[in-house]
Parts: sequence; C-alpha cells; structure tokens
Amino acid sequence: MNKVLIIGGGVIGLSIARELKKKGISDITILERGAVGREASFAAGGMLAPYAETNKFDDFFHFCEESLHLYPNLSEQLLAETGVDIELDQAGTLLLAFNEQDISEINHRYEWQKSAGLAVEKLSATDVHKLEPFVSPDVLAGLFFPNDWQVENRKLVEALHKFCELNEIKVIENTEISKLLTENGKVVGAESKTNKFFADKVILATGAWASLIQTEVFLLPKVKPIRGQMIEFRTAKRLFSKVIYSTSGYLIPRQNGRILIGATSEDAGFDRNLTEIGTEILQSIALEIAPSLMNLEINEKWLGFRPFAADGLPILGEIAENLFIATAHYRNGILLAPITGKILAEKVVNNSNSRYFEAFSHYRFQAKV
Ligand code: FAD
Ligand code: GLY
Repeated sequence: MNKVLIIGGGVIGLSIARELKKKGISDITILERGAVGREASFAAGGMLAPYAETNKFDDFFHFCEESLHLYPNLSEQLLAETGVDIELDQAGTLLLAFNEQDISEINHRYEWQKSAGLAVEKLSATDVHKLEPFVSPDVLAGLFFPNDWQVENRKLVEALHKFCELNEIKVIENTEISKLLTENGKVVGAESKTNKFFADKVILATGAWASLIQTEVFLLPKVKPIRGQMIEFRTAKRLFSKVIYSTSGYLIPRQNGRILIGATSEDAGFDRNLTEIGTEILQSIALEIAPSLMNLEINEKWLGFRPFAADGLPILGEIAENLFIATAHYRNGILLAPITGKILAEKVVNNSNSRYFEAFSHYRFQAKV
C-alpha cells in the first residue's frame, strides 16, 4: 500500500498527512474544496485546555490529555521542519467567577479536580488581579489550571501546510469531492466534478461536511455544523498572559497583541452570515471579563463550523474496506489533531489498533440488536 487520498485539508487532514509521510508513505494527496486550513481550523481559538473543561475521567479526557502531551515535541519538530513557530504557550488557564452561581460551579470543579489529583489552584479576587491586572474589578474568585496551554492555530495549519509542500505531499485546492468510488464494495478513490482520483486508501477528514459526500454501498456517519462566531480586539502591547474563561465564554491573548473573544455556539446550518446578536453576545463576554476592552474598536469578526456528532465525541476509524474517517472533533479539534494524526496513520499503515477507535467508532450510532 503506498497511495493515500485525504479528503479535507483542515488541521485533521494535514496532521494525518504529516504522520503518514513520517511512516514512509510516498504518495499522499490532499483534496481540498477551498483553500487549505481556512475553515474551522482557521476560525478556532487554539486553546489546548483539557483541564479547564474537565468534570470526569473518561476516554475523551484521556484522549485530550494524551494529545496535549504531544504538543511540545510537535511544536519543536514543526519549527525545525518548516521554520514556522506555532506559538505554543504554556502559561495556563484561568476560570473566573462573577456571581454566586459561578462560585458554586467553580467550587464544584475544584473539589472534583483536587480529588482526582489534577493540578488546580483556587484564587481570590486579589490573586486574580496579581496574575491578570486587566481583569474586571467585579471578579469574585477564580481557578488556575497550570497545565492548560494554547497554540496559534493559524500558524499550526500554516506549518502543517508547509510541511506538505516541503515533503512532496500533493495538496490540490479548489477541488470538491462529490462521491466516493467503489469497486466490489471496496473504496478505490474519489470523484470531483471534473476528475477521478484513485488510491489504495481514502481518508475522510471533511470536518462539518463529513456526511455530505455520496457513497453507493454504505452510509456515512451523521455530522453537523455548530457555528461559532468570534470577535477580536488588538492592542499594541500584550495585556493578558493567560487564556481566561468565564462561565459564558473566553478571552484568548496572542503574542502579537490580538485578543480573541469567543465564542457563540449555534445550530444554524452552514449559514456564513455574521449576526448582530452574535457580536452582542461576544461583547458581553468581553465586558464581563475585561470591561476596558469596550473602549477598543472590534478589529475583526469571523465564524467557523465545528464538526459535531450527536454525542459530541469524535468519529474515528475504518468505516468500510479502504475507507477511514477522522471527524467530529467538535470543540477540541486543534487540541486533538496530534493524536488523531498519529493513531490514524498507525491504523492506515500498520493496521494497529488504538483503544480510542473502539471508544470513538461510528458503530456507536448504529441500532443495537
Ligand atoms: P476543518 O478545519 O473544517 O477542515 C475540514 C476541511 O474539509 C475544510 O477545509 C473543508 O473545505 C474540507 N472539505 C469538506 N468537504 C469537502 C469535500 N467534499 N471535498 C474536499 N474538501 C472538503 N478546538 C480546539 O481544540 N481549541 C479551541 O480553542 C477551539 N476553538 C474553536 C472556536 C471556534 C469559533 C470554532 C468554530 C471551533 C473551535 N475549535 C477549537 C474546534 C476546531 O476548530 C475544530 O474541531 C477543528 O478545526 C476541526 O478540524 P477539521 O480539519 O476536522 O475541520
Ligand atoms: N473550544 C472552544 C470553542 O469551540 O468555542
């Protein structure tokens, strides 16, 4: 086996391509409907935050944690391979409380995390202001998760794309696949309006669009888009050192002074229109966390489509002969890209199984008899 087609050039498709190359696959083609890395992977916040969001130990938590731990090496390797710094930032994450309900939520989170042996610190309002002087004077308390990180996701996709260019991975943009090609029940390639592409193995990394490709002999799992809008402020100097969550949203400070405020979560199909109400929600998140931001103009607004399966968990593995899928990473596709690339490549090349294929198999959606 030496010819692999990857449909979809987001962070997931690109990460799989890089891992396949490292495993010696010589002929890899990525087919991308638009431009590489310009959908959810571009829109994202780049938070690598399994701890701030955790309330239970389950396969998903372990999957997230394993992927997080791949980032320091990945970041070093991508810098050496491509010259692109993905800005891995290990400053930790804050979760802030602004009312009694928030306090009870963070207390609950703290108790659970402590009893589970995870690193978390309780902060008074004074502690919060020592760490982040520009946080609202209305903050009541907070938690600090020292092991949550962030990455500049746009640099990540740039680095992965550059890796492809430098390593003879073909990237064909502006090519929408409409149908999978099969022979005797086996997948043998994919078809666009104007071309057919044949391969030994095909991998679907089509994000929120994963259900939309036609197939003749089997059904693709259901994935739908959950729209997320974001706004950005910009300051000459970096004002915040950490990612800051409230119970309604988050603020992400970048090295170059960009401050991202996210995000809405909307069941609105593939509607690409930014909305006034979306901007208002995001402004209210900014106002709660750091009211001084409201003196600044919004520098940019954008949206993206999170790929969502019915239970919010990824869909990974082999779904028909020669056909693999890696999608539905929902709110954590940037965090989960390294481990997804790794286990998919191991599966495609060596047929080696990871326990995560069982946990995140598409079979979980099929009727049990
Ligand atoms: P995408 O990046 O959407 O890529 C899929 C690609 O497939 C697209 O480029 C598309 O054009 C292509 N494609 C689709 N159909 C076809 C076809 N038929 N033929 C050819 N190409 C096709 N995750 C985190 O870990 N941390 C965060 O902080 C974070 N914040 C987020 C904030 C927002 C506002 C949003 C929207 C998402 C966020 N996410 C975050 C989630 C993360 O962005 C996604 O889970 C991740 O980007 C999914 O990657 P993907 O490659 O599967 O999808
Ligand atoms: N993980 C952040 C988001 O999806 O909005």
